[in-house]
Amino acid sequence: MKTITSNGSDVSTVKLVPVHPADHGTEWWRSSVIYQIYPRSFRDLNGDGEGDLPGITAELHQLAALDVDAVWLSPFYVSPQRDGGYDVADYCDVDPLFGTLGDFDALVARADSLGIKVIVDLVPNHCSSDHVLFQAALKAGPGSPEREMFVFRDGRGPAGDLPPNNWESHFGGPAWTRVTEPSGEPGQWYVHLFDSSQPDFNWDNPAVHAEFERILRFWLNRGVAGFRVDVAHALIKAQGLPDWHGRPDGVSTDDFPGHLAPMFGQPEIHAIYRHWREVLAEFDGERILCAEASIDPLSRLTNWVMPDQMHQAFNFAYLATGWDAEALKKVIENSLRMFDSVGAPTTWVLSNHDVVRHATRFGITEVPARPGDGIGPEDEQPDAALGLRRAKAASMLMLALPGGVYLYQGEELGLPDHTSLEHGFRQDPAFRRTAGERLGRDGCRVPLPWDHAAPALGFNSSGEAWLPQPSEWAGLSRNVQHADPSSVLSLYRRALQLRRSEQLGAGSLDWVPDFETPECVAFINNGVLVLLNMGEKAVEIPALDILLTTDEELAGQRKLGPAHCVWLRLKNSGVAGDSWQE
Ligand code: NOJ
Repeated sequence: MKTITSNGSDVSTVKLVPVHPADHGTEWWRSSVIYQIYPRSFRDLNGDGEGDLPGITAELHQLAALDVDAVWLSPFYVSPQRDGGYDVADYCDVDPLFGTLGDFDALVARADSLGIKVIVDLVPNHCSSDHVLFQAALKAGPGSPEREMFVFRDGRGPAGDLPPNNWESHFGGPAWTRVTEPSGEPGQWYVHLFDSSQPDFNWDNPAVHAEFERILRFWLNRGVAGFRVDVAHALIKAQGLPDWHGRPDGVSTDDFPGHLAPMFGQPEIHAIYRHWREVLAEFDGERILCAEASIDPLSRLTNWVMPDQMHQAFNFAYLATGWDAEALKKVIENSLRMFDSVGAPTTWVLSNHDVVRHATRFGITEVPARPGDGIGPEDEQPDAALGLRRAKAASMLMLALPGGVYLYQGEELGLPDHTSLEHGFRQDPAFRRTAGERLGRDGCRVPLPWDHAAPALGFNSSGEAWLPQPSEWAGLSRNVQHADPSSVLSLYRRALQLRRSEQLGAGSLDWVPDFETPECVAFINNGVLVLLNMGEKAVEIPALDILLTTDEELAGQRKLGPAHCVWLRLKNSGVAGDSWQE
């Protein structure tokens, strides 16, 4: 029989820097829970089939009840919506689809009254080709200051009809498009790492820096608590724009170890964020920057969260970890150590608007999930019950970890992707640019279900929705789950309350390395023992008070079943020395 204590020698400890150093204010972002809202699909108050800002404002109390610290709003700016609003035509105004600046102010005021901070999305790598600056660049012609705002080059070949280099767009096809000059002749090419309607800005030009400082200040003055920075690793491109023979997404591969892709992670990028951090510091209330940077490995990503740069970065290595206990332990340990080594908090995330929702990913046993791409009617359909069971367990493990958490709207309802969405509805540019080879991300962007009995499941009152909802979502609607103590929503509420009361976000992690089987993940955070069984065989739950369980019935039998997570109280549980025995 072995005794394990929360401070004893049988645990392997990952001690973290104190979360609330007295001289740094509250540093709320180190342990925050931030809820991502995809405005087009959250709630539609005017009934036009597209979510809107007043719809968000009307439902913020639900998020207060969930006990989140902040919301992050995906783009709601003026946009032709060719990439779901990540193609911005005016950074300082609200698209009429979503409302007005007045509606935004009302949203911030309401959030403030509920104690919720509002973070907005900043898209600095590229804009929409409808943006006045790009339209001016097209009109002004080669060599003009207007063209210098973007990355224009002459083409290769005697007639200049070959793209300037071999870069590929993230959405498929070449990363260059040729323009017609004002003279009517075929002319220069501009780079777009994403869709051709998303020209990249030229961050070698100080005028681009000045423009984005103006945009930052505009939203800071309107009371935002910070920015989620889109493709934060892409702004600066290598001098000379050399060809690249690695993966188009710029991630190093075995063939190109440690090789720096010319379009990503250039060292000069960090000066931009150092300056932005200074700009934010001029404003009260601890405003933050969070990097969306697909940088591999985590040790490189830490360059974005140095104390004088961004506050947080999304932990996509964690998101990409499958249902595998060893891999999960490894990524948790590595994340904590890496981020802590630069004094930054680790963040955790399982779903967002770019990936297949985790309730679906975990329901696919044969084919690995394809992050960044969808699952369609022709693909193997996920096992919904397995996916949901695993998703609940994975989410509860995540919510017990120290650091910051990002939740994606609808995961608190256990929503899966729409995996039978008919292709005719698809809007993701990746679907169009790859002639349907890649399905894209529409399946995770479907409007939320609020009321099982209402048209469009209560997304609005007109019954219109820009993407149809799967019929099986009716049973997952918020009204069905609201008062049901056994619902996923109730589980999230309880977990978030406990996370706050037990200060888990501000804690640290002690592994219990030899708990039952290697397929169990077991750790202690602030006196709470967290167990997740990722294996196939049930094991015994130690004789401690159960704070939370993803399976009431099995927990009642003191069994930790497959895909089952429990939180147990080590402290004050009547066991001598805050310990438990096996
Ligand atoms: C990342 C965003 O999350 C994604 O939705 C978008 O398509 C690309 N960046 C381009 O802005």
